[in-house]
Amino acid sequence: MIPEYLVSFDTGLLPVEEADILIVGSGIAGLRCALALQGTKTVLVSKGGLENTCTYNAQGGIAAALDHGDSPEKHLEDTLVAGAGLNNRAAVEVLVREGIQRVSELMEWGLKFDTAGQRLHFGREGGHSCSRILHSLGDATGQAVASFLWKMVTSSGIKVITDLFLVDLLAEEEGVRGALLLDTEKKKLLVVKSNNIILASGGAGQIFQETTNPAAITGDGQAAAYRRGAELTDLEFFQFHPTTFYLAGAPRFLISEAVRGEGGYLRNSSGQRFMSDYHRLAELAPRDVVTRAIIDQMKKTNSTCVYLDLTHLPKGRVRRRFPAIDSFCRSYGLDITRDLIPVRPAAHYFMGGIRTDLWGQTSIPGLYAVGEVACNGVHGANRLGSNSLLEGLVFAVRAAEHVRGRQCRPGRTTKWRYRFPQTGDILIDREDLKRSIKSLMWRYAGTERNRVDLTAALEKIENWERYAFLKEFHEPGGFESQNMLILSGLIINAALRRQESRGAHFRTDFPETVNTWKKHIVISRQDFFLTEAL
Ligand code: SIN
Repeated sequence: MIPEYLVSFDTGLLPVEEADILIVGSGIAGLRCALALQGTKTVLVSKGGLENTCTYNAQGGIAAALDHGDSPEKHLEDTLVAGAGLNNRAAVEVLVREGIQRVSELMEWGLKFDTAGQRLHFGREGGHSCSRILHSLGDATGQAVASFLWKMVTSSGIKVITDLFLVDLLAEEEGVRGALLLDTEKKKLLVVKSNNIILASGGAGQIFQETTNPAAITGDGQAAAYRRGAELTDLEFFQFHPTTFYLAGAPRFLISEAVRGEGGYLRNSSGQRFMSDYHRLAELAPRDVVTRAIIDQMKKTNSTCVYLDLTHLPKGRVRRRFPAIDSFCRSYGLDITRDLIPVRPAAHYFMGGIRTDLWGQTSIPGLYAVGEVACNGVHGANRLGSNSLLEGLVFAVRAAEHVRGRQCRPGRTTKWRYRFPQTGDILIDREDLKRSIKSLMWRYAGTERNRVDLTAALEKIENWERYAFLKEFHEPGGFESQNMLILSGLIINAALRRQESRGAHFRTDFPETVNTWKKHIVISRQDFFLTEAL
């Protein structure tokens, strides 16, 4: 039912650009990769430019074992505990060791991290056994880092083209050969021919009704790779952030975990603190525990949210540490030093993704994936907060190094042609389809799952697929709705198969973690198999 490609095309009739390396995505992973590829004929394309990435919107900082008394071993241990038995230990070793070098070089290049007096300031977040989170511009770290890298890349000679949407990948048996892109301004297709493509297109939070992710994050890279036959893994693991701003009509703005790290309390609608009933670390318990505790309290008190309380903390410190949260809440009439902040969970980070090795190589030769679109096992079943920007930096550089040394066989195919199965014109309101997917995923495949709900959700997705792929769209919103549909089906499939609870995947009908499930589910268009956790 899912077509081979989303549109009809003939590459012989389309404008063609050639690149040694094509990078798709302009978050931290794409930008850092581009920097590491200076001097090559690299083109970086992006659908939304700088600001529409998760990196730019990230409030949490970058975790790195740089403080006295901290060590890569401690960082490794915390990451493994959070990952609930599914991390690839070798990937975590790489992350915590090479991460130190990647963060140090940012400072050498001139990026300023926040300090306390003369020394770097290290913040605390749930799951970290010590304070190790570096911030820049307080809670606007993502913006600071992304803008810094963007400036370096755009003045480095690397060609950057925004407003290009990845429609599909072109590949033959020997490997990837290019990408079919839509110029969203001119509304025209074009081809970038390249034997090396690095996907850094981010996660897929938009498939859920409640999400911290920007509107552009619709899983396009994962879905395009799936259509070409790439292996995807750990798709049942989607992290829900416990605290996003919740006010009718307001965006789901993240209220950083660092707020609880600074001593913020969670209170239910009766004003009671509740986290110590659920975990010995109270507000600093792992994210999945805090998320489920909040859902439980919302049910028990019949309310739509709980509250974050910072009113007992020194006002000056709160405003200094959280300028973005302060200013956002003010625009809705709330003073965070006096008022409680209404919050509830939202989809935040996709641990699963395109399966890669430690150099970002996917199962398709020449196709690499780095950052949130990829799954190299570094996060296991639950990501430790502030490890994702670090992952972007570390694995981007590794992929760039690998691609530089790669010898590839010359391509055989010079022209690709595809005719989308013509079935007559059918009216599909893509925004309505997106809303329906988001609502279904939130209700039936969100923070708590069970067989009955997941089965019902899968039936619906399969039903929608029956007509949604009869339509050949010519604009990004339509492709996005189809990509969201593909990925939702895959996530539900994986969630149904994993008959246990682990990390971010919680089954009310299988609430225990089961040792025999210390395995990864791998899905591709042709195949399905399990692999042992490494
Ligand atoms: C946060 O600031 O709470 C989010 C940080 C992260 O997801 O790593």
